[in-house]
Amino acid sequence: MGLSCQLGRGKPPLLLLQLLILLSWGPDPALASPPERRDRAGLREVVLAVILPRNNTAYPWSWPRVGPALERALGRINADPALLPAHRVRYVFENSENEAGICSESIAPLVAVDLKFSHSPWAFIGPGCDYTSSSVGLFTTHWGLPMVTAGAPAIGFYDTNVYNSITNTGPTHKKLGQFAVHLQRHFGWRRHALLMFSDNKVDDRPYYFAAEGLYSELGSDNITTADLVLNEQAGPVPFATFLQDIKQSGRVVYVCCAWDTFRQLMVNFRKAGLPQEEYVFFYIDVFGRSLDSRPARPWAKGDADDPIAKEAFRSVKIVTYREPQNPEYKEFVTDLKADAKRLFNFTMEDSLMNLISGGFYDGVMLYAQALNETLALRGGGMPPGKDITKRMWNRTYYGVTGLVQIDENGDREIDFALWDMTDIDSGIFQIVSVYNGT
Ligand SMILES: *[C@@H]1O[C@H](CO)[C@@H](O)[C@H](O)[C@H]1NC(C)=O
Ligand SMILES: *[C@@H]1O[C@H](CO)[C@@H](O)[C@H](O)[C@H]1NC(C)=O
Ligand SMILES: *[C@@H]1O[C@H](CO)[C@@H](O)[C@H](O)[C@H]1NC(C)=O
Ligand SMILES: *[C@@H]1O[C@H](CO)[C@@H](O)[C@H](O)[C@H]1NC(C)=O
Ligand SMILES: *[C@@H]1O[C@H](CO)[C@@H](O)[C@H](O)[C@H]1NC(C)=O
Repeated sequence: MGLSCQLGRGKPPLLLLQLLILLSWGPDPALASPPERRDRAGLREVVLAVILPRNNTAYPWSWPRVGPALERALGRINADPALLPAHRVRYVFENSENEAGICSESIAPLVAVDLKFSHSPWAFIGPGCDYTSSSVGLFTTHWGLPMVTAGAPAIGFYDTNVYNSITNTGPTHKKLGQFAVHLQRHFGWRRHALLMFSDNKVDDRPYYFAAEGLYSELGSDNITTADLVLNEQAGPVPFATFLQDIKQSGRVVYVCCAWDTFRQLMVNFRKAGLPQEEYVFFYIDVFGRSLDSRPARPWAKGDADDPIAKEAFRSVKIVTYREPQNPEYKEFVTDLKADAKRLFNFTMEDSLMNLISGGFYDGVMLYAQALNETLALRGGGMPPGKDITKRMWNRTYYGVTGLVQIDENGDREIDFALWDMTDIDSGIFQIVSVYNGT
């Protein structure tokens, strides 16, 4: 089985299809300039349409995580007398969740259409989930409006023939795949790897999309991959069968699944008595949840399997995003936590997820900068979104998350960290190398 790009796969939902037909028959709204809006102080209004999951803070791009960053960014833009004088930037928000708190690819495009026709926004911020971004991204392309997100990591968005309006200031799976290629080269493995991932085909399929990034980039470096798909929801995971497959067809295994499943795999691996030094398991844990305890002992659960898990984890290396090291980021996170508590009654932990909030902050600041430059060339009124997007791509900007380097397709270069067991007695994991995407 091969992974293919699943975004916009198969039949789009019927409703979306009807909307697209409707839109393609009507006059192109991108050509009609919207009425100019001014606020009470006579400032020209720049409206940003925000679409994100409102309540479910399991999503790194949920509103309680991103809202405080957006508020702060707009506060800074509106207070800066040099950035967009005579303008006032404000946002309108809509939720992309269904009643169960899951990102909904039928709700997101509907609220996008509502926002477009009720508010004439200059740009869209979000969505964050892959499927909702896929449908909204088709609309923003059609309307010629910039879409700025720090979510939407799937590799399908890299195709600028389809998604030419998206600027991504967060981490993406394309860059994760490039890091895997770097690892393969670094260790001198040129031929083959195994991809093991969990997929139950519901919600936003984060493990599936991460594996797709690896599959695609390793493939373009001529490294063949075989897939092992597991579904915890379908009953007990057949670890013995997986180990048999691993034994037969791979020594380098990339694993994208929940931590507990991965630990069970490793316990089974150790119990099976395979020659441990011949295998390496890269556990893809981009937000570093398995490393949250300090010092980091990602094998430890406090159960009877701890000793054997600790031994098994000698064959494990863990891949995470790298925490920005610049002083502005520390200050940003301090403010973010205080603002999240004050505005959303939400207690934000210290976590790599805050990188996504920072990515949205930097994305909005970069948009404001690009808007300033576009207005300087074109004068008043809403400039074509394409002109602004073009200015955000292939560009370097210094933001709260450090250097924001946007590539020629509108995706950000990302730094990764590789964690390894540095002390066999204590089983402690530490960062052993960092990969500079920039
Ligand atoms: C989501 O949050 C809003 C605002 O706090 C609240 O009104 C709503 O009931 C919440 N929805 C769910 C499903 O929790
Ligand atoms: C853009 O920035 C420059 C320099 O800060 C400022 O002088 C100019 O007024 C800004 N342009 C617009 C259209 O806001
Ligand atoms: C992959 O293989 C093809 C065909 O053999 C070759 O043309 C190409 O240069 C290779 N690419 C890399 C990155 O090695
Ligand atoms: C804030 O959150 C806490 C814990 O979830 C809750 O007990 C409290 O009632 C909330 N306060 C307000 C003002 O909503
Ligand atoms: C990106 O920028 C570089 C140097 O600034 C330039 O040489 C290159 O042509 C640009 N690429 C695109 C696609 O605009």
